[in-house]
Amino acid sequence: MVGKKKKRKRGLNLRFWQRDLAIDLGTTSTLIYMPQKGIVLEEPSVVALRNGTVAAAGKKASRMLGRTPPGITAIKPLRGGVIANFEMARKMLDYFISRVLRRFPFLRLRIMITVPYGTTQVERRAVLSAGKRAGVKEACLIEEPIAAAIGGGLPVAEPRGCFIVNFGGGVTEIAVISLGGIVLGSSLPQGGETIDETIQRYVYRRYRMEIGLSTAEEAKKEAVYAVDPPEDLTYTFRGINLYSRTPDTIEVKAAELHEVIAPQLAVLSGAVRTIFEQIPPQLAADVMEDGVVLTGGGSLLHNLDLYLSREINLPVRRVEDPFTCVVRGASEALGYLGSLALPENRSPSLFPR
Ligand SMILES: Nc1ncnc2c1ncn2[C@@H]1O[C@H](COP(=O)(O)OP(=O)(O)OP(=O)(O)O)[C@@H](O)[C@H]1O
Ligand SMILES: [Mg+2]
Repeated sequence: MVGKKKKRKRGLNLRFWQRDLAIDLGTTSTLIYMPQKGIVLEEPSVVALRNGTVAAAGKKASRMLGRTPPGITAIKPLRGGVIANFEMARKMLDYFISRVLRRFPFLRLRIMITVPYGTTQVERRAVLSAGKRAGVKEACLIEEPIAAAIGGGLPVAEPRGCFIVNFGGGVTEIAVISLGGIVLGSSLPQGGETIDETIQRYVYRRYRMEIGLSTAEEAKKEAVYAVDPPEDLTYTFRGINLYSRTPDTIEVKAAELHEVIAPQLAVLSGAVRTIFEQIPPQLAADVMEDGVVLTGGGSLLHNLDLYLSREINLPVRRVEDPFTCVVRGASEALGYLGSLALPENRSPSLFPR
C-alpha cells in the first residue's frame, strides 16, 4: 500500500517536470510552441558559426547573410523543406531549444518536429537526430499538412475529406486528409522563397540590376498579386546597376511582376487539379462542399485564394493565422501522445517515427 502511494507520488513529480515542445522546422523560419505558454520562439532558420561554434542564430544571423567577414559563415541549413546541411541544422536547433529551455527548466523533454509530406526515411532520420539532445526523452515527427490541418481546426480525425494546400517558404504540399491520414498528396519543390528568387533573376535579366533576396521578398509582399494586380500599383526596386556599378532605382508595374510569377502559380494550380482528379468520389463530394484550405506563410500572397478558386472552380479560404497553424497543430498532436484516451481514429501516419 505504502509502496503504491510512493509510486504514484513519483509519477506525478515526473509529469510536473516534463515539458512538451512542438517545433516547426521550416525552410524560412523555425517556430517553437509550448502548451500553456504558446509560441515561445519564432526565428528565421539561419545560423552563423565562428570557428565551429554558434555565433548567432535566427534574426541576428539572418542579418549576417551575405555580409559575413572571413571566419564567420551564415547559412540557411534547410532547402526545400528538408535538411541540406545536417551539422548546421543540428547546431541551430540545439541553440533554439536551449534558448527556450533557459526560460522554462525541465527534466524530461518530449518534442514533436514537423517534416514535409513525402520526405524519405533518410531525411526523416536526419531531422530526428538533429532534434535529439540531452534531456530529450521522446522525439517524434509529424507531416506538415496534417499538423497544418489540425492547427487550422479541420476535422482531420473524421471520415471526411479535407483538402489542404500548405504554401511554405521552400516547399508546397497538397494533401487530402481523412481519418487522421493523408489519402492523397504531393509536394512541389517551390514556395515563397522560389518566388523571391524568380523576381531577383527577372530584375537582373530584364533591367540589369542586382537586388538582394530581402528586396525581392519585400516586393512580393507589397506588389505581387496572384491575379488581378491593381493597374496603377508599382514597386520601386533599389539595387546595383550592372553597367555603371552604382546604386540605382527602377519602377516596375505590379502587372509585370504578376506575369513573372504566373508560371510558378500555374504549376501549383496544375498540381492541385491533378490531386482533385484522383480523389475517390465520396471524398470529392466533401471537398466540393468544404473547399480548399490554404496554410503557410506563402499563402499570404495577394489574391492567391481568388486565383486558385478561379482555376479549380472550388471555394478556397485561407486559415486565420497561416504562419503558426502548423506548429499549433503539431503541439495539439503531441498532446494526444501521452493521453490514455487517444482519438478514436488516430492513424499511424499521424505520427511517423
Ligand atoms: N504577406 C506576404 N505575402 C506573400 N508571402 C509572404 C507574406 N508574408 C510571408 N510570406 C512568405 O511566406 C514564406 C514563409 O512561410 P512559412 O513560414 O510558412 O515557411 P516555412 O515553414 O519556413 O517553409 P517550409 O514549410 O517550406 O519549409 C516566405 O517565403 C515569406 O516570404
Ligand atoms: Mg512550413
